[in-house]
Amino acid sequence: MSLDVARLRADFPLLHQERNGHRLVYLDSASSAQKPRPVMRAMDELMETSYANVHRGVYAIAEETTAKFEAARRAVAAFIGGHDPAELIFTRNATEAINLVAYSWGRANLVSGDVVVLTEMEHHANIIPWQMLAAERGIELRWIPLTADYRLDLSDLDVLLRGAKLLAVTAMSNVLGTVNEIPPLVAAARAVGAHVLVDASQAAPHLPIDVQEWGADFVAITAHKMLGPSGIGALWARRELLEAMPPFLGGGEMIRDVRKDGFTTNDLPWKFEAGTPAITEAIGWGAAVEYLNCVGMTAIHDHEVVLTRYALDALDAAFGDQLTIYGPADTDHRGGVISFLFPEIHAHDVSQVLDEEAICVRAGHHCAKPLMRVLGIPATSRASLYLYNDTDDVDALIEGLAKAQKFFAI
Ligand SMILES: Cc1ncc(COP(=O)(O)O)c(C=O)c1O
Repeated sequence: MSLDVARLRADFPLLHQERNGHRLVYLDSASSAQKPRPVMRAMDELMETSYANVHRGVYAIAEETTAKFEAARRAVAAFIGGHDPAELIFTRNATEAINLVAYSWGRANLVSGDVVVLTEMEHHANIIPWQMLAAERGIELRWIPLTADYRLDLSDLDVLLRGAKLLAVTAMSNVLGTVNEIPPLVAAARAVGAHVLVDASQAAPHLPIDVQEWGADFVAITAHKMLGPSGIGALWARRELLEAMPPFLGGGEMIRDVRKDGFTTNDLPWKFEAGTPAITEAIGWGAAVEYLNCVGMTAIHDHEVVLTRYALDALDAAFGDQLTIYGPADTDHRGGVISFLFPEIHAHDVSQVLDEEAICVRAGHHCAKPLMRVLGIPATSRASLYLYNDTDDVDALIEGLAKAQKFFAI
């Protein structure tokens, strides 16, 4: 293993507990990741020493908080390869980042008959904003289908992209674990003059990513899946697009001047940050990316590849054909999100048995109902791995699943 997991685990207090007499095994990081002490410390320290509103006060602690807030923005922007912090807009989460694009860029640029191309593996966050726009504007939605091994079927990409104004695609599926190669998708979209939005909610916590190398126009990320707090996410977008886009929400902070007959907008990135932002959370997120940088995103990715291989092989050895795994078999094309189903047992029942063993996995449609319909199932159980997971967690999962199998007598 490329990471010293025992040493890392020491930083995550929540993982050191027992439930029902069992060690807590957290396998739900795709839903939300646990938080290391440095993140909690950064947030506590701010509130104990220099908390004030940002960009307003001229007194010392307000200036200190503003400096820390903007340093966090620089850290998050750099973490995803952004060169200009003004291109990183803080939002509430990835969902709001995508809605920002749909409301602002979408309403300014898309008209009836325009085409937005999605994929069948999108999270609802990257579907509903486009469906809302489709209902309002009469735009057409097209869907890139899946191959038999749960990857994007790009054989008809040229046809799907014909006349498209936007391709909105996830970098990593939160159900299948599939990692999509972004640069060729961007190249194909560019060839027809389409813009590209990448939902990097699942990729940013687990892979080294570089928005410049991707060449995309819009990238959405969310802090709580990458060791940061909930309540904050970000939209990264190219400066010229953000400058041309109308504001999203109106209020304080996003203005340069206001008169009775109108307003002018602030500079980037504040033009898109109406109201008091998530100050403490931004600083916690800054600490989270510092933590991830110290561990190293390549080391995290390598660790997860090895652990995912171990888990896929162990599941196959233990259950063979009795368990269906929904996702690519090859770890070159996937991350550590493992969705599975015993055809005879409901995913929720499996999760309940696992919960009695203090094993946390997610069960349900994972906010990807169109994908569930494509797969022909209502739900899966999903175990997702992160830097604090090790083979002992996977072994506990296998034992728990064997108990579930025995309990339901299949
Ligand atoms: C692929 C993907 N996109 C978007 C989201 C939405 O993230 P948030 O709820 O933080 O906005 C999630 C969260 O589960 C996700 O997995």
